[in-house]
Amino acid sequence: MPAVKPFLPKRLPRADLDWRALVPAIGRATRELARYDGILHGLPDPGLLLSPLTTQEAVLSSKIEGTQATLSDVLRFEAGEPASSGERGEDIREILNYRRALRAAERELKNNSLSLKLLGRLHAVLLDSVRGRDKTPGRIRRTRVWIGAPGAPIEAARFIPPLPARLPALLANLEAYWRGEELDPLVQLALIHAQFEIIHPFRDGNGRIGRMLVPLFLYDKKLLSRPMFYLSQYFEDHRAEYIVRLCALNGAQAWNAWTAFFLRAIAVQAEANGDKVRRILALYERLKAQAIALTRSQYAVPLLDRLFSQPIFASNDLFRDPRMPTKPVVTQLLRRLTDAGVLKQLREARGRRPQVLALAELVNLCEGKKAV
Ligand SMILES: Nc1ncnc2c1ncn2[C@@H]1O[C@H](COP(=O)(O)OP(=O)(O)OP(=O)(O)O)[C@@H](O)[C@H]1O
Ligand SMILES: [Mg+2]
Repeated sequence: MPAVKPFLPKRLPRADLDWRALVPAIGRATRELARYDGILHGLPDPGLLLSPLTTQEAVLSSKIEGTQATLSDVLRFEAGEPASSGERGEDIREILNYRRALRAAERELKNNSLSLKLLGRLHAVLLDSVRGRDKTPGRIRRTRVWIGAPGAPIEAARFIPPLPARLPALLANLEAYWRGEELDPLVQLALIHAQFEIIHPFRDGNGRIGRMLVPLFLYDKKLLSRPMFYLSQYFEDHRAEYIVRLCALNGAQAWNAWTAFFLRAIAVQAEANGDKVRRILALYERLKAQAIALTRSQYAVPLLDRLFSQPIFASNDLFRDPRMPTKPVVTQLLRRLTDAGVLKQLREARGRRPQVLALAELVNLCEGKKAV
């Protein structure tokens, strides 16, 4: 049985890293990330084209914590479809909060640097009116917490983060470290994520805020031209290893193994994300040409942009959009695209329930499998 004693991590920077051993992994992660940023940099409108990937990141980061909802569940919900159960509805609301927090952070970082204060505000958005509302959203915890099986007593904890009284000093040290210079910024980020999880500053949502920190930090340190880089796929694919490596961090040696794991995650995900972004861009270009040819309408491109920002939608929503033409014109445009197989009907209009359509290729590409 592990001791019922809170863990007190060493301050950052850590003096016990074996930098030499990390050099190849640092090189690979740096190269792949730079290549990814090159792709990001060349995008005409990254906010638009990456929009479904941002939602997918919110889905995957929340999935690590155990939510079951998928990207298409979230997109269907946004199109006005009811969630399949109360539980699923809560999942979806948490995911939408996650995306809202990510987008708020992207906006804030244009003018301000990354701070603990900002993380507090993101936490308040993340846990806004969902399961976490009784978990003091936006506030550093004043109670003990422990990590273990759901509902398990502290005696059965796998890990016990520091006592509340230790948090101000630990967080001040963490913030000073991330604002300062380290020999390598990716190693710095690996240590920051782990230290953040060990400190566990909030009563809940620490995993998600710690993962949100990744693109924000990279942008803040100017390693990315936009704060859009998504790592949760790797942690979700290697969930057991992610948790085991975090759990091992009460020993000095484990910090090197953790850092190597984290650098591998960056390299693998940079490559995978770059590939996905390239395919999204190719899809966009192909559909643009197709939509123009099919509709011969000046609204073809604005409509396509609308579909990329919301790839599952109720046709009603477009009728209300001031940027769209009149209802009969929209109806005709949608029919042409549906007949050509660009759009897929997920639900027929019946009574007061509107028709629901999907840009299926985009949803499936982002979800990584045939989902609609
Ligand atoms: N032994 C450990 N030491 C440090 N951190 C850990 C350990 N085990 C898990 N973690 C981190 O704690 C997170 C869970 O904490 P918490 O429930 O506060 O966050 P969350 O965002 O609600 O959940 P989560 O992963 O569960 O999304 C995990 O995601 C992981 O990042
Ligand atoms: Mg949790």
